[in-house]
Amino acid sequence: MSQLLEKYSHIVFLGSNTGVSVAEFCEVFKCKTAETLRFHDKMFVNVADTHLSANFWRLGGTVKVVKLKLELKLSDLKLNNLVAKITELVPSFSRKYLGLSVYGSLNIGTHDLKLSIGESVSAKLGKKVKIVGSMRQAVLNTASSNKILNKGGLQIDIVALPSRDKVVVGFLQQVQDIDLWSSLDYSRPERDMKIGMLPSKLARIMLNLANIPREVGGFWDPFCGLGTLIMQGQLLSYYSYGSDVNKEVLQKAEKNVAWLKEIGLVKQLKYRLFKHDIKRNPLNNKILRDIARFGRFDAIVTEPYLGKPRSRPFATRKLAAAVWSSLRGLYKAFLRHASYLINPEGRIVFIVPAFKVRDGTWYEPNLEINRNRWKVVNFNAGKLTWRRPNSIVARQLVVIEKL
Ligand SMILES: C[S@@+](CC[C@H](N)C(=O)[O-])C[C@H]1O[C@@H](n2cnc3c(N)ncnc32)[C@H](O)[C@@H]1O
Repeated sequence: MSQLLEKYSHIVFLGSNTGVSVAEFCEVFKCKTAETLRFHDKMFVNVADTHLSANFWRLGGTVKVVKLKLELKLSDLKLNNLVAKITELVPSFSRKYLGLSVYGSLNIGTHDLKLSIGESVSAKLGKKVKIVGSMRQAVLNTASSNKILNKGGLQIDIVALPSRDKVVVGFLQQVQDIDLWSSLDYSRPERDMKIGMLPSKLARIMLNLANIPREVGGFWDPFCGLGTLIMQGQLLSYYSYGSDVNKEVLQKAEKNVAWLKEIGLVKQLKYRLFKHDIKRNPLNNKILRDIARFGRFDAIVTEPYLGKPRSRPFATRKLAAAVWSSLRGLYKAFLRHASYLINPEGRIVFIVPAFKVRDGTWYEPNLEINRNRWKVVNFNAGKLTWRRPNSIVARQLVVIEKL
């Protein structure tokens, strides 16, 4: 019985902050989280191929997507049978390069499996295929997968699901362009570790959660810093407004945004950067006053000031709480002023920090959101927290809409 294949079309391999990735995927592809099936960092979904191919590039939090082809019983799995079934699936026009990734234990040696598939597929195609990567390597890295797809090759992914006594087999359909993402973070002209850089992938995810009308929509980042969100806004063709209290960072943000055009990633830039202190009345700023009068933003998406960068965890929760209490006023001013400037249907997506304490716990501030004015959007995807293994300040995403 092929229960999984009947219900789902693809497996999505999520980025390391899985809750955030699920929320983004379901928002972009308008699928309900309740209609997906999750196994840690893998999620079964039902999405049309054409929709996926056209929109995969928009995602920041999904590593790859595999089209489901076959479902077998794990406890009955035999090398010969698996090889025969996979060979049957391989189209006769397949090119020279063949990749194979195996997730979980199949009780079949990776070397034997790769060797047998290589021989069997070569016999079917009447030409010798080249198996990419080492014969004992269970999972190919993203760079190898990119190469296989770019060269028109075929990558087969096999996933063991012991809790269901299942093995699923699929063809890699889309994979994240890691060279592009790393150049956006590390090759741009202006970077500054001191002010804490928002990762480009997270900026993309935040914009996707803001659900801005495609091509025509616009957003504001009132703490734009070096312009990471503005750059992502340009890649998604949104009108992007960025402001900051610091004039020097605005000049750097200008350089970063202009660089996107210089390297040919964006043809036409649609952005505006200006100085503004979020604690001041926005109606005293001409640009914001005009926006409040004539249009309002479709979304406000931002990473506010998260406190001084730290190299060590807080000694006590009390010290972490003291830092939050020094930031609370800024967040309150931000929410108060954002409320004048957001379109009534628009979303505000912002980051609240969580601080690591020396005892291993996290101090998560309680941001008092006025529930008579705002509704917190729940993506049913678990915690929307983004952190790296060594993070001392984690980023929690909050998404709100006006009531
Ligand atoms: C965490 S950084 C934002 C980083 C930005 N996301 C980036 O990728 O570069 C916070 C920014 O808030 C700005 N800032 C601090 N207080 C502010 C205020 N009262 N009004 C506006 N901007 C402020 C700082 O100058 C800094 O650039």
